[in-house]
Amino acid sequence: MKYKIPLYKAEIKENEINAVKNYLLTEEKNRGREIKKLENKLAEIHGVKHVLAVSSGTLALFVLFQALKITKGDQVYLPSYTWPSAANAANLLGAQLHFIDVNPSSFCLEPEQLKIKPSSGKKFIISIHQFGNIWKLDKLVQIAEENDAILIEDSAWALGLEHGLKGKAGIFSFHPRKLLSAGEGGAIYTDDDSIYQHCKIFRNHGLNKAGKLVVPSLNARMPEIQAVILNKQLKKIDEVLAAKEKTALAYSKKLENNKQIILPEKHNSRLWPTFNIILKQKKIGPIIKYMQNKGIEVRASSVTTHLEPFYRKKFPSLSLPVSEHLAESSLSLPMYKGLSREELNLVCTNLQKAILL
Ligand SMILES: Cc1ncc(COP(=O)(O)O)c(C=O)c1O
Repeated sequence: MKYKIPLYKAEIKENEINAVKNYLLTEEKNRGREIKKLENKLAEIHGVKHVLAVSSGTLALFVLFQALKITKGDQVYLPSYTWPSAANAANLLGAQLHFIDVNPSSFCLEPEQLKIKPSSGKKFIISIHQFGNIWKLDKLVQIAEENDAILIEDSAWALGLEHGLKGKAGIFSFHPRKLLSAGEGGAIYTDDDSIYQHCKIFRNHGLNKAGKLVVPSLNARMPEIQAVILNKQLKKIDEVLAAKEKTALAYSKKLENNKQIILPEKHNSRLWPTFNIILKQKKIGPIIKYMQNKGIEVRASSVTTHLEPFYRKKFPSLSLPVSEHLAESSLSLPMYKGLSREELNLVCTNLQKAILL
């Protein structure tokens, strides 16, 4: 379906298209350079030692989990209300998952809900900086230390947030809904030399530096054309961050008097890659339909992973009230650089009408 106002839109400029053309014409001379340039720039922006570009955020998690040797008997604690990439990756490697409820205003894993059980397997906590929000990370560091667990940061939504890596490693995503996009893409980041070296092997079929296959793995490399686009896009990261923050503040201002809407938390250590609201009384289904009929794309803010059929079978009686409430009440509104004030007003006017129906 083609929307008048889509949920997200990547901004691709003439210079990015020209850069791809140039790269294609000189590929054999420049092979590998753009990937390295991208990795170095991401490392510099986020103040970390190593970055490894891969083909998606999901593959970044899978490769990282392979490098951390997540396997049967290991215990992985993670939020339910998020895109299920971390859950799927850990599950595919045979780990035991523990879904934890989220905080209703930050949408992130709530440390007070996190009780680590004794286990002979390795323990992992996946902190997901949902929608660009860092939530009680110091508390998670403390829980990880006290329980001998490894903390991982899923920063799929937090590209550009200079918070300093507190976990053992993290990942980014370049899916078009995220801050910058080249269609798809992802990256792993860490300060740990050994994790970095292992990720390199798992990224590339399981081949070591000498080209010997030392462990079976997949091809998770980022196509270099994507790195060409991302290198150009990284130059405007501050501009995109500022534009999105302006849009988020404009949404907040426009909707602040509507008593039916709970707005996202505003604080200084967060980004605004997307804008999500919570409806106090209405369910999101009819609102999404109404907006769709007006040519405006709005969606459920995220997925409640433990309610998805596969995980429901594994955890038939698990109840996470906040995540389940968000599944019915939280919406993402259109958000991209270039969303005009008229378009934003149209989204808000229609949303408020839909709520009144
Ligand atoms: C929190 C989170 N982690 C991981 C991913 C996976 O990223 P990708 O779509 O690049 O595979 C997403 C994507 O939507 C996400 O929201």
